[in-house]
Amino acid sequence: QTVYLKDYTPPEYLIDSVELNFDLDEQNTLVESRLCMRRNPQSTDPGMSLILAGEDLELVNISLDGKPLAEADFAITPEAMTLHRVPQDRPFVVNIENRINPKANTALEGLYLSGSMLCTQCEAQGFRKITWFLDRPDVMTRFKTTLTADKSQYPVLLSNGNKIGQGELEHNRHWVGWEDPFAKPCYLFALVAGQLACVADNFTTMSGRQIALEIFVEQHNVDKCTHAMQSLKNAMRWDEETYGLEYDLDLYMIVAVDHFNMGAMENKGLNVFNTKFVLARPDTATDSDYEHIEGVIGHEYFHNWSGNRITCRDWFQLSLKEGFTVFRDQQFTGDRTSAAVKRIEDVNALRTRQFAEDAGPLAHPIRPEAYIEINNFYTLTVYEKGAEVVRMLHTLLGAAGFRKGCDLYFARHDGQAVTCEDFINAMEAANGVELNQFRRWYSQAGTPVLTVSQQFDTQAQQLRLTMQQSCPPTPNQPEKAPLHIPVKLGLLAPDGSPAPIVLDGRQHEEITLNLTQSEQTFVFDKLARQPVVSLLRGFSAPVNLNMPRSLEELAFLLQHDSDTFNRWEAGQQLAVKVIFDLIEDLHQQRPLHLNALVVKAFNGLLAEEGDDLSYQALLLALPDESYLAGQMPVIDVDAIHHAREFVKTTLAHDLLDDFERVYRIHHRDESGKFSADAIGRRRLKNACLSYLNQLESGASYALAKAQFEQARNMTDQIAALSAIVNSHHPDKAECLDRFYQQWQREALVIDKWFALQASSHMPDTFATVQRLMQHPAFDMHTPNRVRALIGAFSQANPLHFHAKNGEGYRFLADQVLALNTLNPQIASRMVTGLAQWRRYDGKRQELMKQQLHRIVATEALSKDVYEIASKSLA
Ligand code: ARG
Ligand code: ZN
Repeated sequence: QTVYLKDYTPPEYLIDSVELNFDLDEQNTLVESRLCMRRNPQSTDPGMSLILAGEDLELVNISLDGKPLAEADFAITPEAMTLHRVPQDRPFVVNIENRINPKANTALEGLYLSGSMLCTQCEAQGFRKITWFLDRPDVMTRFKTTLTADKSQYPVLLSNGNKIGQGELEHNRHWVGWEDPFAKPCYLFALVAGQLACVADNFTTMSGRQIALEIFVEQHNVDKCTHAMQSLKNAMRWDEETYGLEYDLDLYMIVAVDHFNMGAMENKGLNVFNTKFVLARPDTATDSDYEHIEGVIGHEYFHNWSGNRITCRDWFQLSLKEGFTVFRDQQFTGDRTSAAVKRIEDVNALRTRQFAEDAGPLAHPIRPEAYIEINNFYTLTVYEKGAEVVRMLHTLLGAAGFRKGCDLYFARHDGQAVTCEDFINAMEAANGVELNQFRRWYSQAGTPVLTVSQQFDTQAQQLRLTMQQSCPPTPNQPEKAPLHIPVKLGLLAPDGSPAPIVLDGRQHEEITLNLTQSEQTFVFDKLARQPVVSLLRGFSAPVNLNMPRSLEELAFLLQHDSDTFNRWEAGQQLAVKVIFDLIEDLHQQRPLHLNALVVKAFNGLLAEEGDDLSYQALLLALPDESYLAGQMPVIDVDAIHHAREFVKTTLAHDLLDDFERVYRIHHRDESGKFSADAIGRRRLKNACLSYLNQLESGASYALAKAQFEQARNMTDQIAALSAIVNSHHPDKAECLDRFYQQWQREALVIDKWFALQASSHMPDTFATVQRLMQHPAFDMHTPNRVRALIGAFSQANPLHFHAKNGEGYRFLADQVLALNTLNPQIASRMVTGLAQWRRYDGKRQELMKQQLHRIVATEALSKDVYEIASKSLA
């Protein structure tokens, strides 16, 4: 059942072109496929048979070169069709007719129904649920597609490429023809049919070509597409300016659908998006939603080059397109918003979630070596760590060198299906460097630990910095070799000003050190006084930094570091240290007391008048409970929660006037304004609200309620509701109810309503979650809703999910089993909530394992769930 990278062989046959005819119907779609094929001259396999992948298909007809095949000429299994004998010495044509039932397709892979519209999701292996095909990314084909359907039910008929014809038919039917001039793998195929409104615009490329831009949504959403359209134009311009890459077709279409397993899909010329990453209006979407929409629109657009024009040879190379494209979308968002804030958000997510994956039973390299179900490898490791690996190349080669490498990669491999190795080769060749050791980042799993010690010699005026690297064992990788780790460093003089960096006789303001051995010492000269070291600036490598620091040193860096990332990081480490001291006090049953240094540091932050208010808001945010959990040998969810709440409440108490003052300064009605200033003011103000809310006072209740009632934008409204939900606010039920009544027709807002309640830390949360499962608006068939309720509870509410009595675990396993038959991809995403069982105390371990065993023992388990659950137990 396991597929291995080492077993890769080139395809035995090629498909030069395909013509597809769809006779579309909700429950009975007829697919006609005409495959022009030939033997691959590069294939070494001597066999004469042709194996086409296909699942859940009903065969109607099959012929070879126009002659119907006899029963004996082919065989069908649940996963494939074998044609026993096909021509070896000349091209041939296979004609297939088959039926599929989109309505029965609750897995949302292949052709399925979302509301009343038909749409597809083919990556990774969904095309085989549409018709028999060589469903692998290294088979690239030119597609011509004709869609025929009822005119009233499906007035809009879309597929990849350019529209080449349309016409009316009898019985109120019509057809539209599409042709994609670029050869592509079938995972990039798409079709959409439905009653859709179109928002149109256009873009002139750098070479002066006019591109038609079209966003398709349901009629009631046409007022929520402005931002998505602007984002698309921004992305197109940015890719031209930053990478010199221009769009290639005359038409770019985006369709928003309510039912979607992931975020969005880069199908050639016809992106299909989760509505969450398209629709926005100031009163329905938050500032962060606006930023995520621009990021995902950018991501899918950037795939047109990093993914579509140049694609993956096999699915083990997924990070080739995903890591690179995530890096590109991170750069884009950084340029469009605040680079400092974007970097912090990305690192925070990486360290909280990807580091946990890397430290658990599901750890894998960014280029995995084996899988049971490829859909399980659309992971934080392949995407986010993959992006960090690309970022390190950017750091090592410099922006110009990285660009040269990209240029060569795109020029060399245009129209090809290639490997991660090809990407590094291009980087090497374009820059005249050798990246052999760096390649280990592709094959080695786990998060390296970087341990740093310093020695200052006053006499010699020298600082000796010794760095050691190691990497904990991960599944199937007990031993690790040293990696090439770029370590960006700055030095601060005791007054906070930059100290010169003199290394090997050369002076720098900032330097990137190349750590390549297990242990290395760097000696910095000409230092009259001991500097404070600012290490791993910008988070220059995805490692765990272990460098003992005093609270005073951290407070100093929080005040003075010129590197925006490290300044924030110093504040985080300060809070982490203090919270862990408090956890120790809790364990020893000592009274809690907050170190005055922390209060002073926060006092300073609140007094600041910087110009990046979003950044200031981040400086005020305490580390997440999940991040803290990642730092603890045996996770104690209750102690983490109580210690962190204690810090937050004490700060609110001691700095009440400051929080109130900053709140008032920035509280104004700027609904509909999305300038960095307006967004920053909302972020900073709502950070203050969240602190003040800790006080559970008449004043704090009044403040939250007033903001809730007056808000005319979703950022402020949801922040106020969150404060209300996470307190004993007397009007909680009323506010939740009013919010529901106000927004019941906006699915994406109702998702927020579910998620907010599911992630509440108030004691009645589990009962609320159970009640919400019965709510008429809850629906297991809608992935966004499942993520909002079950996902938020199991992944964003450690306190209640990990309740000592195991009710959270049992609940999750129940839902996983219910989802297993409906939608295996979503089910397997939910199982990951149990994967980290080894990190908890013995009693919780037992309870979590029990549920995993129960899942594994279930009959008719999908490959998806089986792989995650069984590997979690291994
Ligand atoms: N390629 C898409 C993206 O990252 C994700 C599609 C994932 N689909 C899946 N079934 N795993 O933009
Ligand atoms: Zn992607």
